Amino acid sequence: MTNQPLWHGRFENSTNPDAFALNASISFDIRMADQDVRGSIAWAEAIYKADVITAAEHTQIQAGLRQIEQELLAQTFTVKPDDEDIHSAVERRLGEIIGALSGKLHTGRSRNDQVATDFRLWMLDNIPALDAALVDLQSALVERAEADLSPAPLCPSDISPQGGEKLLLPPKGEGWDGGRGAIIMPGYTHLQRAQPILLSQWWLSHYPPLKRDQARLQELSRRVSILPLGSGALAGCPYPIDRVALSESLGFDAPSFNSLDAVSNRDFAAEFLFIAAMIGTHLSKISEQIILFTSAEFGFFELDDAYSTGSSLMPQKKNADPFELTRGKAGTLLGYLTGLMATLKGLPSTYDKDLQEDKIPVFAAFDTLIAMLPVIAGALRTLTVKPARMEAAIDTNMMATDLADYLVERGVPFREAHAISGEVVRAGIDKQKPLDELTLEEYQAINTVFDEEVYAVYDARESIAKRAAIGGTAPEAVKAQIERAKKELTSL
Ligand code: ARG
Repeated sequence: MTNQPLWHGRFENSTNPDAFALNASISFDIRMADQDVRGSIAWAEAIYKADVITAAEHTQIQAGLRQIEQELLAQTFTVKPDDEDIHSAVERRLGEIIGALSGKLHTGRSRNDQVATDFRLWMLDNIPALDAALVDLQSALVERAEADLSPAPLCPSDISPQGGEKLLLPPKGEGWDGGRGAIIMPGYTHLQRAQPILLSQWWLSHYPPLKRDQARLQELSRRVSILPLGSGALAGCPYPIDRVALSESLGFDAPSFNSLDAVSNRDFAAEFLFIAAMIGTHLSKISEQIILFTSAEFGFFELDDAYSTGSSLMPQKKNADPFELTRGKAGTLLGYLTGLMATLKGLPSTYDKDLQEDKIPVFAAFDTLIAMLPVIAGALRTLTVKPARMEAAIDTNMMATDLADYLVERGVPFREAHAISGEVVRAGIDKQKPLDELTLEEYQAINTVFDEEVYAVYDARESIAKRAAIGGTAPEAVKAQIERAKKELTSL
């Protein structure tokens, strides 16, 4: 090897090339180049202030590091075959620029506290992009909820060649129509038709999970913002460096508490992967339902061509690939978390080379989410809703709970009302009739409490309108959710 590794002194022979390749992390930790240089600039200042290097040496080291920073920016920084990792690569390049003085930079520092610092800096630098992508997806959901709460009547040009549907709406006055024209659909439990809901309520159901993920990222940022640098290899730094000033100069909240913990702590990486897996799970849930809803059997949604793909064999196919991939990648994201947890579980105190594996899943999880989130947001913003299909999928059995409530209003205890309502459903099945086509005699044969007003129970919009308590599906409760979400999104 032309360039010797940073640790060559006690070795007589050079590393076996395959062992070198296995050991090397430059292929992935190159992503932390910027953070590595920033960390080194701060470290040079810390050891200068601690009288480890002179002012002149500090100036030269700093100028060399600034040059590397420029090279990174200009993308002229090149990795050499002997660069084991980003720390070695930066130190090698500094040596090329300022000569032997570069060897003073690593005084009092270890790659153990260095890599932990770089990795935390990388995370702090990149969380905002993920945060922004999460906010955009939340906005897409709220936009859909708002649009589908007061949908504009479709004009002929809105009707897609695949057969969009004419929406028959009550005439709209100025302002809000009170949700009279809102799109309604079956709500499901166990994937069985349960109770009617507003489509907007369904869109909004996916907003708070993403909001929680975003809050988790913000909380994680606070725990990431603890500086390991100045912990040495494991036992601490023998030079009188001011770790509080060092921490401030790099934008961290505080220096780490204990040097042994500082070099081995990867909780933040595992937490990041948990959040990534949780986001993946939330996206998978949306995806699974979109896949179902775009199938011919449901026919509730149609994806825009821009967000679907065809089949190489079957000309008629229009597949929901982005959503299937998202569902699939949710599994991969979970794998990243379990992989790192399994690695951490076996480790004793302080740094072990196993820890080098931490960056691979974190970078992969980050890239996966950054690739997925905008596609999901775009696909949701552009998909076509089929209100008539959705409304037609609501059957009278879905108002069986309302039927029980009707009996409760007439003094029947709920438990009994539930049983009577169940008998009505049974009668409908036996007579092969929807419940609003059973005659009053048939109702009264089941229970004499029934009167003419029973038929009003089967108005799905009425059923929806009744659920007006905070968080419910009634139009005004949904509108309140939209207002709150919009406020939250604009106050960010
Ligand atoms: N490339 C290593 C990593 O990513 C840097 C730390 C190396 N430390 C050591 N003691 N070999 O973890």
